[in-house]
Amino acid sequence: MSDKIILAIETSCDETAAAVIKNGTEILSNVVASQIESHKRFGGVVPEIASRHHVEQITIIIEEAMKEANKTFEDLSAIAVTEGPGLVGALLIGVNAAKALAFAHDLPLIGVHHIAGHIYANQLITNFKFPLMTLVVSGGHTELVYMKEHGHFEVIGETRDDAVGEAYDKVARTLSLPYPGGPHIDRLAAEGTPTIDLPRAWLEPDSYDFSFSGLKSAVINTLHNAKQRGIEISNEDLAASFQESVIEVLVEKAKRAAVEYRVEQFLLAGGVAANKGLRKKLTEEFDQLGIELIIPPLYLCTDNAAMIGAAAFNHLEKKQFANYELNGDPGLDL
Ligand code: KG4
Ligand code: ZN
Repeated sequence: MSDKIILAIETSCDETAAAVIKNGTEILSNVVASQIESHKRFGGVVPEIASRHHVEQITIIIEEAMKEANKTFEDLSAIAVTEGPGLVGALLIGVNAAKALAFAHDLPLIGVHHIAGHIYANQLITNFKFPLMTLVVSGGHTELVYMKEHGHFEVIGETRDDAVGEAYDKVARTLSLPYPGGPHIDRLAAEGTPTIDLPRAWLEPDSYDFSFSGLKSAVINTLHNAKQRGIEISNEDLAASFQESVIEVLVEKAKRAAVEYRVEQFLLAGGVAANKGLRKKLTEEFDQLGIELIIPPLYLCTDNAAMIGAAAFNHLEKKQFANYELNGDPGLDL
């Protein structure tokens, strides 16, 4: 069987990324241009600025990915791109680049769901064993996704308000930490002690849904009240308490889902999967459960195109191609 090589493109948020993936599992190149520096001073991603950067960067990044992989367009089997969810203006840059290249080189076009991409980042480091469950934790999503087979996704629980990364970023902003705040809270938490009592949103006993807005507000209120009463609160202790509350709920629900659905493998995915506290606690708890846990390396947790190429391979095998009407869809369902 000849090798199947996919060029994948990802522009759903603030990373312009392109990657070349062999047979869905091997990274030949993985180029990511982060825009974080441009959005930092606004405390979050500004959609208009994101689109402009994508326009400036996309061709350069694709050329770099092809060059690094030492491939030409004749070597490719398909072009894949994130079609949603994400910022519509940002998605469109990637989608249009992919359509133009597929047309120019007469290659099949594949639309990939961003969250499927995060899940399939794990396929670059392991072989999937079904059934499996993934905890997807990112700036826009917090979901438990069950998979019986390739390409089959069942969302068994999701956040009812803020995504966990969003809660991290908002709490960080309250503590005057730079955007994105997740890594800063993670670092502070390691230096503090979880001495401050904060709520845990368990929701209904059998629910796999999440809620983080109450916790976020509790952190903000705690700071506000302390300031009013002239009490000093250690940022480290507050970060540690917030992180403990988040991790306790995520890990408890992850364990319950893994056991109830009798999974062969449990995967972690998304930008918040870079969190050191979460990685440690999940590892300890799944060791005890005796269920295989897969955690991607940091460069595969945050947005990248390698994960899109990995997810696209399954579409290529099933010949699930898009036509030139493919569009960016900000609210695309998994
Ligand atoms: O998956 P991602 O790169 O983009 C989205 O699809 O949203 O995730 C970005 C999110 C941000 O909210 C960021 O603060 C968070 O991941 N994040 C972290 C850590 N590293 C990144 N959150 C907690 N701890 C970290 N170490
Ligand atoms: Zn993402």
